[in-house]
Order: sequence, then structure tokens, then C-alpha cells
Amino acid sequence: MPMQPGLFTPVKVGPLELRNRIVMSPMTRIRAGEGCVPTESMVRYYSQRASAGLIITEGTHPSQMGRGYTFPPGLHTDEQAAGWRKVTDAVHAAGGRIFVQLMHAGRVSHSNLLPDHALPVAPSAIAINGDVHTFDGKHPFEIPRPLATEEISAVIEEYRRAAELSIKAGFDGVELHAATGYLPNQFQVTGSNRRTDAYGGSLDGRTRFTLEVMEALCGVRGADRVGIKIAPGYTVNDTFDDDPAKTYTYLARRLNPLGLAYLHVGYDSGYGRGTAPPFNPIDLLRSVYTGTLLPVGGFNKATGEAAVAEGRTDLVVYGRMFISNPDLVERLRLDVPMNSPDVRTFYGGDDHGYTDYPTLAEEKRPAQSP
Ligand SMILES: Cc1cc2nc3c(=O)[nH]c(=O)nc-3n(C[C@H](O)[C@H](O)[C@H](O)COP(=O)(O)O)c2cc1C
Repeated sequence: MPMQPGLFTPVKVGPLELRNRIVMSPMTRIRAGEGCVPTESMVRYYSQRASAGLIITEGTHPSQMGRGYTFPPGLHTDEQAAGWRKVTDAVHAAGGRIFVQLMHAGRVSHSNLLPDHALPVAPSAIAINGDVHTFDGKHPFEIPRPLATEEISAVIEEYRRAAELSIKAGFDGVELHAATGYLPNQFQVTGSNRRTDAYGGSLDGRTRFTLEVMEALCGVRGADRVGIKIAPGYTVNDTFDDDPAKTYTYLARRLNPLGLAYLHVGYDSGYGRGTAPPFNPIDLLRSVYTGTLLPVGGFNKATGEAAVAEGRTDLVVYGRMFISNPDLVERLRLDVPMNSPDVRTFYGGDDHGYTDYPTLAEEKRPAQSP
């Protein structure tokens, strides 16, 4: 009888042999340097976590207009690609694998963060109800500028170019952030898309942008090195849809023929904002999506092990536990207590709460004598 797989059983994702089924979730940490270039601290942070079967980086903008925060990393300049190369080299040297998450903020941005103080772009002129952190503090979200139909191909081209730079930067693959109210998600849902052109209206229209971006990414990297993240029915960043179950099952069906590396599905945004859907997104999609599913949201050792052992998923994605436990894989293996993440240091700041969470070995080391 074949052995039942567990979290530590190697698995193949696309052409990649992963040494375990534990994936580090994409998490924005707002610690990039000048020009949105990855720093040495980021090299340390990611390489500390390289024992994950796969790391997915924090959201990384594919263009200046895609930037959503004060110090996120980008992937649209050669300097940024060179900075990321140091990260990927360090992760590979430690035996890990790493995908970059491409995140265009769209209306989750502010003119204060964008070139020439341009208004953020979006499918329609509908503002998010709430505040955004900018260079001079919190401001209400602005009414974004709707993208003209003829501008959309240029935005897709930005994603394509970022995929090209991802090769130069040494990434094993790319993930499209199409969840939690970022640009592709803004097009998908009825609450933020009131367009009457080919990129709005019907399900076909509202998913067109996402699918065209995916085709562009697959064209560069090959579909088996491309993933996508969705979070069906979560309302964070004012993501409202008239019929989320219908919208996301439609999208999953349309993704099937692409033959992607995986479909990453959020159960919980991790932001402590927004509300959950009235259905379990994995249950919703399992019968529809024919490829590899990566569920994320609130997993611990027991629930992750059970999900893999019962065949409900091939891999399990962990977010916040990876922030505070660089050796999460080892801690899960030994079933020992975890460090708790400090929410005050999630976004921005120095290395405190970033690269100074101790491993088990560091905890056991006797205090240095002066
Ligand atoms: C500090 C922080 C930043 C995050 N940034 C991103 C991001 O850039 N891209 C993304 O897809 N999800 C992001 N998320 C969501 C996580 O990837 C993950 O889906 C969520 O935390 C739920 O998993 P968990 O319960 O294991 O933490 C973020 C979550 C946190 C806590």
C-alpha cells in the first residue's frame, strides 16, 4: 500500500521537486530600500525561512503605478531584479525554492505613493471606504481613475515584463496576486467593476483581465511555473460581489486549461479586516479546479497534517507563523511551541520583529557572557 503523504513528504509542483509540503505565504513587510530595491535584511529574512518547501514573496509591484505602500519591493527595474537576485541566490544556496508574488495595488494605493502624484488606476471610479497609509500618514482612499480600454494592454505588458525580470532575478516562478481587492480582483467583482466594455459586465468580461495577465505570465515562464492567489468571498479592501460562489467557480474553471503550477486559495486574509464568505472556499473549488490547490488561512500543525493526510490538499500554506518562526518547518516536525508574531512590527520598521525571531537552536544557546 502506498505510504500516506504528510507535511514532510516531498512533492512535485510543476517541474520543481519540493522537499516538503509547507509553503510560506506571501506577506507584505514594507522594508524595501530606496527605489523599492530589496535589502540585505530581506536577503536574511527570506534565507532564514528557506527550509519551507516553497517561499512565495511578499506582494511585489510590476510597475510604478502598481505600488500600494510606502516601502514595498518592486520588480520593474534592473536594480530591483539585482536586489531580488541576492534573495533568490541565498534561498537556493540553502536548498529552498522561491516564487515572486506580483501585486498591482490598483485602487488600494494613493496619489501620494505614485509617480507625479497620479491618481491610482482601477476598473471603475469607485473608492474604497477607509484609510490608506502614505508617506505623510493616513489618508482616505481616493476615487481612482478608471483605466481606458486601450490602456489595459499596457498594464498587462507591465506584468509580462515583470515575469521576464523574474527570470533575471532568479525566481523559480511567479504568482499573480488576484485576491483581497488588488487590481485583478477589482476587475473580477461587481462591487468595483461597473465597466461596459469587454473588461466588465458578464463573468467573461470581469475575469478577462485576470486571464489575460495569466496568459502573459505563462507565455514568459511556462504555465507550470505560474500560480495565482484568490480569496473567494472575503470583503477586505471593499471587495464585494453579487455572487462570489459563481464568480470564483467560473474563474477556476477558466484557469483549468492553462495547466498552472497551482491555485492558491485564501480562507482568511490575515489582516483582521473584512468578513469571511458564507462558504468554505476550498470545498467550493475542489470539485471545480482540476490542478494543485494551495489553501491558506489559520493552519496549525494538526490541521495542516490532517488536510494533507486526508488528501484534501497537496500542500499547506502558513503565513503569520512564518513571520515569528524562521525554523517553522523544524518546529512543526518536532511539534514544539511556536513564537507568537508581534503585530506591531508586521509593517515597516527595522530588523526587530523581522530577522530577530529566534530559532530553536538560538533559544537553547546559553546567554553570551560579557
Ligand atoms: C503582515 C501580513 C502581510 C500580508 N501580505 C500579503 C501579501 O502581500 N500578499 C498576499 O497575497 N497575502 C498577504 N497576506 C495574507 C497572508 O498571505 C495569508 O493569506 C494570511 O495571513 C492567512 O494565513 P495565516 O493564517 O497562516 O497567517 C498578509 C498577511 C499578513 C499577516
